[in-house]
Order: sequence, then C-alpha cells, then structure tokens
Amino acid sequence: MRQHVNPLSKHFDEIERIPSLIEMFDNSKLPLHLDIGCAAGNFLFDLALVNTSWNYLGIEIRERLVKNAKLKVREREIKNLYFVFGNAYNILNNVQSEFFLKNVKSISFNFPDPWFKKRHYKRRVVQPEFINILSNSLQKGSFIFIKTDVKDLFDYMDCTISSDLNFKSIEKKDFNYSASFNPKKVQTNREKYVKVNQIDIFDRIYMKI
Ligand SMILES: C[S@@+](CC[C@H](N)C(=O)[O-])C[C@H]1O[C@@H](n2cnc3c(N)ncnc32)[C@H](O)[C@@H]1O
Repeated sequence: MRQHVNPLSKHFDEIERIPSLIEMFDNSKLPLHLDIGCAAGNFLFDLALVNTSWNYLGIEIRERLVKNAKLKVREREIKNLYFVFGNAYNILNNVQSEFFLKNVKSISFNFPDPWFKKRHYKRRVVQPEFINILSNSLQKGSFIFIKTDVKDLFDYMDCTISSDLNFKSIEKKDFNYSASFNPKKVQTNREKYVKVNQIDIFDRIYMKI
C-alpha cells in the first residue's frame, strides 16, 4: 500500500520552472492533453506513442515517479510527451502556466486519490478553486474527463464541476472519441485493475461553454 502524499504540505508551495511549449514538444502546435495525477505516466506513454498528432503533459506530485518518467521520455526520444512534478493546483495557479493552459484541449482526472475522511476532503485534487482556474483559462469547447471507482468522490467532483456555469456535462454517446486525445480508449493502470476486479467505474465528460 503506497503512502499518500499530502498535497497541502508546504513542501509543494514552490514549483519547478515550467518550460515553454516549444521546449516541451517537437511540434508545439499540436492539440494538448493534460493528465492530472498521472503517477508513473504509463497511460500517457501508451497514448503518446500511438497518437502522434497530440501532445501530452502529465502532472504528478510524487517526485521520483516524475524523474523516472522524464528519463524514459529522453531515452525513448518521445517528442510529444512531457512531465511536470508538483501539486497540480499550485502549478496551474502559477503565472508560468497561463500560456499552456490556453492551448489545452482536454484534461483528465483519472482515479484521483479519494481521501475518504471528511477532514481530508481539502486534499482532493478537484476543488472549486482548481475548477475556477480551468473555467477562467480553458478555451471554449475544451473538455474535462473525470473517472473514479469511488462513488462519493465522483459525486464530489461532479458537484464541484457542475457548480461552475462554464462547464456542462455531455452525454458519452454524443462524444466523438475518435477525434479526442484517447481515440482507442487506452486504460490507466488503476482502470485496468478495477476492470479485472469488476469494480464499478463512474465517469463523466464536461465541456467548457
Ligand atoms: C490513485 S492514483 C491514480 C493514478 C493514475 N491516474 C491511474 O489512473 O492509474 C492518483 C495519483 O494522483 C497523484 N496526485 C494526488 N494529488 C495530486 C496533486 N494535487 N497534484 C498532482 N498529483 C497528485 C498521486 O500521487 C497518484 O499518483
């Protein structure tokens, strides 16, 4: 069982330098997908290798995982994938991120840490302040994807995002996956585990309007 990282710890107040899109990617003009809490990044490696017409950016709070993922990107010479270490809220709330947020076409929150105790809800990554940043900076027509196997967390995230009038949830049957960041519906590590164990998954897509 891994030790959960407390994102509100002072340790994460300072963030690393965020490079420009040109430094991050070979072709900075490609549509950009952001995965929050990407762990070791396996999901993004799978996506980036197959969908070379998208750029992928992962944010993860566990430093060692990000170091290893960056090393792997360099070794494999992958040009459409980048990782940033830190608390996603502090990173996106920083002026350095303004330039890339404008280019983000979609964001995924896949199986975020549930923080079951009520007094720890503040540590959950989806918070009104976080959604407010996205609401103010994303372009109209961009998407947020949430996915979890914890119903209470799903309700919490759904309520937080739906409370922002700039986001509306859209029916999955009306969503064009083939044009999205994940046309082949690649699964994350947690998703694979949950499917094998036949645990329910709760997910939703929102569009900035
Ligand atoms: C349960 S894991 C899910 C990993 C992966 N998305 C998946 O579906 O397999 C949640 C991940 O989010 C990271 N995380 C939690 N809070 C975070 C935050 N505020 N900013 C960035 N990453 C965070 C954790 O360290 C962990 O790697």
